[in-house]
Amino acid sequence: MSCGIVAYVGPRKALPVIFDTLKRLEYRGYDSAGVALLVGKEIFLAKQKGKIKDLEERLKDEDIPSKMGIGHTRWATHGRPSDFNAHPHLDCSGKIAVVHNGIIENYNELREELKAKGHNFRSETDTEVIPHLLEEYYQGDPLQALQKAVSRLQGSYAVAAIFAGVDKVFFARKDSPLIIGVGEGENFLASDIPAVLPYTKKVIVLEDGDTGFISESEYVIFQGDKRIERKIMEVPWDQQAAERGGFEHFMIKEILEQDQSIRDTLRQRLHEDGDIDLSEELAPLADKLPNLRRLFIVACGTAYYAGMAGKYFIESILGIPVEIDIASEFRYRAVPIMEGDWLILVSQSGETADTLAALRDMKQKGVPTIGIVNAVGSSIARESDVTLYTRAGPEICVASTKAYTAQVTVFYLLGLYLAKVLKGMDVRPYGQELLTIPHKVSQVLAKREEVEKMAEELYKERDFFFIGRGMDWGVALEGALKLKEISYLRAEAFAAGELKHGPLALIYDGVPVVAVVTQEALRDKMISNIEEVWARGARVIGVLREGDPLQESLAMSFTIPNTIDYFTSPLAVIPLQMLAYYISRKLGREIDQPRNLAKSVTVE
Ligand code: F6R
Repeated sequence: MSCGIVAYVGPRKALPVIFDTLKRLEYRGYDSAGVALLVGKEIFLAKQKGKIKDLEERLKDEDIPSKMGIGHTRWATHGRPSDFNAHPHLDCSGKIAVVHNGIIENYNELREELKAKGHNFRSETDTEVIPHLLEEYYQGDPLQALQKAVSRLQGSYAVAAIFAGVDKVFFARKDSPLIIGVGEGENFLASDIPAVLPYTKKVIVLEDGDTGFISESEYVIFQGDKRIERKIMEVPWDQQAAERGGFEHFMIKEILEQDQSIRDTLRQRLHEDGDIDLSEELAPLADKLPNLRRLFIVACGTAYYAGMAGKYFIESILGIPVEIDIASEFRYRAVPIMEGDWLILVSQSGETADTLAALRDMKQKGVPTIGIVNAVGSSIARESDVTLYTRAGPEICVASTKAYTAQVTVFYLLGLYLAKVLKGMDVRPYGQELLTIPHKVSQVLAKREEVEKMAEELYKERDFFFIGRGMDWGVALEGALKLKEISYLRAEAFAAGELKHGPLALIYDGVPVVAVVTQEALRDKMISNIEEVWARGARVIGVLREGDPLQESLAMSFTIPNTIDYFTSPLAVIPLQMLAYYISRKLGREIDQPRNLAKSVTVE
């Protein structure tokens, strides 16, 4: 997950350097922060809930004579944000300190094993197993202990560890980013390049399976038990570009992260054999589950469109009614509530005023509530009976992209899990298909130049229409919202079958109509609708499945890898996100911060 870790060894005072580098990673998470410093033969530890600046304020009068240490900014995955759960974590003796970014999947087993050996745990985190494993294996060689410890871990990790009395910082990485910043007489570790840029532009990007250490004068990297060299890269970016991972805007960075954010969202919930398990997360509502009769999905904007995919999917797979509502409507509507009704709130920020109000109203009426939320520890996450987190990491661009695909992914998991427990359905064939989606998303992302070319042909247009049926209708709505909010062009979406009931009057010669045609079952109906707009001169741009012969008849089209009808939404939305992005870039818009809009809408 998106925590940030840093480490420093060198001639400077470590604490200010650690705070400074850590602050440039705060975009990766910000619910708690901590540092551990080597002071002679002891380790100084300070950590607390809240932002880095709160911890900095607390330590501002301390003059700690340390030239080496590690730091962490956290975005909770296991265990709520609290002082105890903040990193670094220590072993029993207080002589080993660890910061970690990632998720340890087998931490329960390891924790039990270590407890049986007498280790004392102080937090609810998965990370704490690491310092205890190090303590268990440490016989004078910290690197060997670390290599042994990480060989026991399943899941993802970037780890930095210090040992009292040893002036080196040890590291290991698998499936979580970690870089070495190579300085002059000083070295750094960090989750991301921007952290170290004011100190050095020389970095080494570590790879999966790498372990090693940094000291003041050197860095040493092992792959397995072999010492290796890795290339030093000179980073050409300035500070601001670096925070965006070298991209021009957060939006494109976040679009390109979607294979990873979907993978993270599926992790631990979808197993290799396709089985789905949300039992732990849904435990607080487990006894009410057999009474579930109807679901309400309530959200705003993009989160509402993600809810549309949820509605179509859950109705179809589970066979219970699912109603979807815009939060600002739902809360002022006289909604008849019945026994067996449940409410699902969808929100990236977890703070949207209308969505939060709907949650509070319904809770008061005794309706069980599930939050699908990205921001850990946010109001909706705290107040829902159950929270299923989307693990998209912080989304900084105002226009939502990776949160949407992660929300749709959670609906897939939830729908399948409910079908398994309530209908006894074997969901594994669906689960296996779902496992292929992150890779298919990367295939879509790899074709972004195709969309850029389309944008070059389209950016001078003033009106855009989007059409789709079934789950594609929700995608069309989301595509139109993306385009209008960042390009300020008119973009309207319609359920394709509604065209002839009015919207067809808007179609004129040459107007672009984006037709989303990924639902096999509705393809013929969509072709009739495409013919309706063609007949009025529209230029049709298709989002189609690979191999669809319709491609030959269309002015432009983008194809997505094949999957079952249910799972096309996260694939089909990406070319539309990119189209909005590239058109807006051509138009020179303020992409990450569109006019009149805010990231978190905490007012009605
Ligand atoms: C559009 C967008 C908004 C949000 C909406 C809900 O790109 O970002 O439409 O989706 O304001 O926000 P959350 O998900 O934070 O409740």
